[in-house]
Amino acid sequence: MCGIVGYVGAKDCSEVLVSALRKLEYRGYDSAGIAVFENDKIRIAKEKGRLDDLQKRMDAEGVPCGHIGVGHTRWATHGVPSAVNSHPHRGGKNVTLVHNGIIENYKELKETLKDLGRTFVSETDTEVVAQLMDFNYMGDPVQAIARTLSVVEGSFALGILFADRPGELYAVRRESPLIVGVAEGESFIASDVPAIIKYTTQYYLLEHDEIAKLTFDGVSFCDLEGNSIEKELKVADWDQEAAEKGGYEHYMLKEIHEQPTAVKTTITPRISDGVPNLEECSITPERLSDINQIYIVACGTAMHAGMIGKYVIEKLCKVPVIVDIASEFRYRDPLIKEGDLVVIISQSGETADSLAAMRLAKKMGAQTLAIVNAKGSSIAREADMLIYTHAGPEIAVASTKAYMVQISVMYLLAFEMAYSKGLISEEECRRLTSELVGTSDKIEMTIGLVEPACKVFAQELTEAENLLYIGRGLDYALSMEGSLKLKEISYIHSEAYAAGELKHGTISLITEGMPVIAVATQNSLLDKTISNIKEVKARGAKVLIVCDDEAQISDDVADAVIRVPKIEECLMPMLAAVPLQLLAYYASVLRGNDVDKPRNLAKSVTVE
Ligand code: F6R
Repeated sequence: MCGIVGYVGAKDCSEVLVSALRKLEYRGYDSAGIAVFENDKIRIAKEKGRLDDLQKRMDAEGVPCGHIGVGHTRWATHGVPSAVNSHPHRGGKNVTLVHNGIIENYKELKETLKDLGRTFVSETDTEVVAQLMDFNYMGDPVQAIARTLSVVEGSFALGILFADRPGELYAVRRESPLIVGVAEGESFIASDVPAIIKYTTQYYLLEHDEIAKLTFDGVSFCDLEGNSIEKELKVADWDQEAAEKGGYEHYMLKEIHEQPTAVKTTITPRISDGVPNLEECSITPERLSDINQIYIVACGTAMHAGMIGKYVIEKLCKVPVIVDIASEFRYRDPLIKEGDLVVIISQSGETADSLAAMRLAKKMGAQTLAIVNAKGSSIAREADMLIYTHAGPEIAVASTKAYMVQISVMYLLAFEMAYSKGLISEEECRRLTSELVGTSDKIEMTIGLVEPACKVFAQELTEAENLLYIGRGLDYALSMEGSLKLKEISYIHSEAYAAGELKHGTISLITEGMPVIAVATQNSLLDKTISNIKEVKARGAKVLIVCDDEAQISDDVADAVIRVPKIEECLMPMLAAVPLQLLAYYASVLRGNDVDKPRNLAKSVTVE
């Protein structure tokens, strides 16, 4: 995810900006840049790659020298990682800005601006805002910002310099975070506290549609009408490490809380006119409607995301989907035919088995589609088609937000393919897509709703030696992920079972007090699942049911119930995943484990 910084003060601005950006490196980035007022002229330096690459370029070409400026680390969403797509972006002769977030209506705005004679050098949505801001600038920065914000849609935080105002730095935000730091004789803007903590612990939290003006005399705030605002000064009592975790005790918890944003950032750029549009990823409706057989090949959590994909794609698109563990696929002579689609899902894009499976599939004549989080990774580079998930860097070994965005892409694919094949109407496609967009807010709501109950139930799990996750259909696919999450970080043994399969053997494991987590969000299968729950309950199991907030569950069936908001049935895994992640997280915390770095595991598995 992009990072923004800005500085006004007596220190060497370039040095402060680069050092502040280094503290945002944990957010992940693929290019970086700064803009500094040097002798009243704005000088920009930007480069693809790491901050060291930017520093090298500046050392070669001259470091911008001044006391007021903005800086940015970019995690590419619109346009490839490149120097020209890097921020800061200029708009006309007046405006230079950096941006974090996404401008949803940038295509329409770009067309309008082109009609007005504006030309663009980059592929970014950010340059559109810079041009628009410049178009709206008549000498009054607040007015220009207000006019611009009245037409842009999306989430964004902006740091803005106006060429004729060399002593001023402006910032504004909507949804994307931004703070304004203050110290004696200097001030800062930043996406996150770690960027400024070396310089100050005092900061203001900029709220939606508030404008900050930073000058050498101090900072002031106003609304979009120019009315001044008094804000409460906050003091960060974090050390550097805590600051990088955003105040959360572990990266895993932080990443669970980042899921709503990750989903929004991943799906919004792939929706146009209310329906999925994956053409930017070289996936045309024609290509999708021609597919007769799909393989989804991945490892671990990514493979579980593929299981969700299987259920949804088969149901909506009537195309057979085989989900394969990459390490099995590559050695079992898969029966791939020319023209089959092989989908490789990978957070890191470097998993050795997944990469080898993809190479094998290509060799056998399949078309390959990679769904990858890490930009520029091997799987991303070698696939025929590519959909990047925009989860930002995932640091905790246990995958949470990467899984969530992987399944969000499974839905996008399924909806677009079903529509391309004429199996759902345009109206139905719009309805499903809008429900998918709505999951971002609902995930946020779910976290707030279920976290306290998960903490309590996790206590029960910590005493268990073994437990089962059960479910049917999509709930079974999700149970697999719930079980893996618990195993890998709490070290409690668990298995996921198709609820209807228990009586064929596994039910003999049930003993008095053994926890069973039953996922029961699929209304059409609820009665069947309840019957299976009764079977384990009758044998002494302690049952926790995860269901929607309208499901009728009688008291004698469950020992505890965790309810998540009811949404479209096929999308329920996106909400039900949250309590499963939090149960695993709190079980691990309560057992005193190293949550972010579980034993024997590595984040990126680049060996067979
Ligand atoms: C579990 C987890 C792993 C990964 C697996 C594949 O929480 O993260 O199971 O999902 O190692 O990794 P990627 O997605 O990087 O290919």
